[in-house]
Amino acid sequence: MAYENIRVETRGRVGLITLDRPSALNALSNALFEELNRALDTFEADDKIGCIVLTGSEKAFAAGADIKEMSEFDFAEAYKRDHITPWERVTRVRKPVIAAVSGYALGGGCELAMMCDFIIAGDNAKFGQPEVTLGVVPGAGGTQRLTRFVGKSKAMEMCLSGRFMDAEEAERAGLVSRIVPAADLVEEAVNVAHKIAEMSLPIVMMIKESVNRAYETTLAEGTRFERRMFHASFATEDQNEGMRAFIEKRSPQFKNK
Ligand code: HXC
Repeated sequence: MAYENIRVETRGRVGLITLDRPSALNALSNALFEELNRALDTFEADDKIGCIVLTGSEKAFAAGADIKEMSEFDFAEAYKRDHITPWERVTRVRKPVIAAVSGYALGGGCELAMMCDFIIAGDNAKFGQPEVTLGVVPGAGGTQRLTRFVGKSKAMEMCLSGRFMDAEEAERAGLVSRIVPAADLVEEAVNVAHKIAEMSLPIVMMIKESVNRAYETTLAEGTRFERRMFHASFATEDQNEGMRAFIEKRSPQFKNK
């Protein structure tokens, strides 16, 4: 089925998903998430794809959940449908997902970016959790993931006051991995994704799983998990190829992509 709220393309081994509801600054509707999840499922299942980039427009990554759609909700309906839970599909993608954020990433938009593995920001990016100004609580991890990224004080201020953070503040606070000129954002993100997609995919997936452990368990458990993954690396032919290529002073040609 064709997509109406997103654009989906491949660039070599990179899957590029662009949120595309310009009339609503990419406000996140249920229909948009149904399409996004379908595109993620397709790339996840495609052996020719090694890394995914999720982006929006230069003006907005996404200006939040669709307020017009949400304004019709009542508690029983929201609870019965388990509203928001399907939006977290991206957190279960096993291949790396990079958020390339330009312009507004507000409310659910900021939360969606934080669900990705890392965020590269355009120099015009603005992050915020303005739900409080609408009389609701952030509902897709804003109070949880933002706090883990930037610490209690800044997360608390942003969630309580609705203040936006610009790209420089976001980089200083550790919310984004780096800033690039907005005009080059997608190209830069795709370049990083190309690089990742040339690595051994099982190893990339093990690294992603290991880093995520840092958020979900103790340091002792996390390092134990990492050690087992490290040991498991030696069961792959790509370990052999990677180390042999170094010794032979050539580029590795990983088989398990
Ligand atoms: C629905 C939205 C929208 C949104 C913008 N639009 N954000 N529609 N939901 N979240 C629509 C506007 O209604 C308008 O449509 C068009 O997009 C352009 O927006 P403007 O406001 O005219 O643009 P501008 O003046 O440049 O202001 C940009 C803005 C502002 C600062 C980003 O649009 C804004 O404050 N948006 C809402 C941000 C927000 O509160 N996000 C959190 C949502 S709650 P028309 O038809 O009038 O031209 C949330 C909860 C998450 O995300 C919990 C679970 C995920």
